[in-house]
Amino acid sequence: MVDKLKIAVFASGKGSNFQAIHRAMIANEINNAEICCVISNNPDAGALQYAKEHSIPAIHLSRSQFDTDEEFNSTIIKILGKHQVNFIVLAGYLKKIDASVIKKFKNRIVNIHPALLPKYGGKGMYGIHVHEAVIMSGDKISGATVHLVDEEYDHGQILLQETVPVAETDRAETLAEKVLIVEHKIFPLAIKLLAEGEIEIKDDGVVIDE
Ligand code: GRF
Repeated sequence: MVDKLKIAVFASGKGSNFQAIHRAMIANEINNAEICCVISNNPDAGALQYAKEHSIPAIHLSRSQFDTDEEFNSTIIKILGKHQVNFIVLAGYLKKIDASVIKKFKNRIVNIHPALLPKYGGKGMYGIHVHEAVIMSGDKISGATVHLVDEEYDHGQILLQETVPVAETDRAETLAEKVLIVEHKIFPLAIKLLAEGEIEIKDDGVVIDE
């Protein structure tokens, strides 16, 4: 049995991915995991609102509240310690996670990206910009990716992916909607597989039981 996943969710927006994971937990589709806190750089994030409505500690934390990067990052680490967090889920978090946090949570931070990495990833590739790039490219397939977070944007080991067909009539907005549906499926599934040990976390990465 793996240790219970004690998750901190980082989100900057609506938090629909966070909500999908939380709903899967409430429905007992994900066992051996709990969300200990939600952290957002955006005080108006829907993710914070949802957390408050569900009695999950909701913390607004942004770099602008601190004088230095060091103070900001050490506060993040302190808060994660206070909540006994052992796993981090980035659910639409638009800020880069500092190397000091990645080092402390090596192979224990996952992110959802709205494209089939390694394509359409990296700096500037977030939200609607991803889908605009896919539409512009003429690709007929897109999708979503759950991956480990390392010190480069959208670069860590891929855990799960699922494809979405791109229709002739699709625009970035309609493609985003289709991909978001897949995100809400594979992100909770990835958390389930991690919590149940089907995806095993090792020092040099994760092992996915085929
Ligand atoms: C999602 O499209 C996700 O792929 C990206 O940011 C968006 C977050 O949406 N990382 P939400 O806040 O989970 O609704």
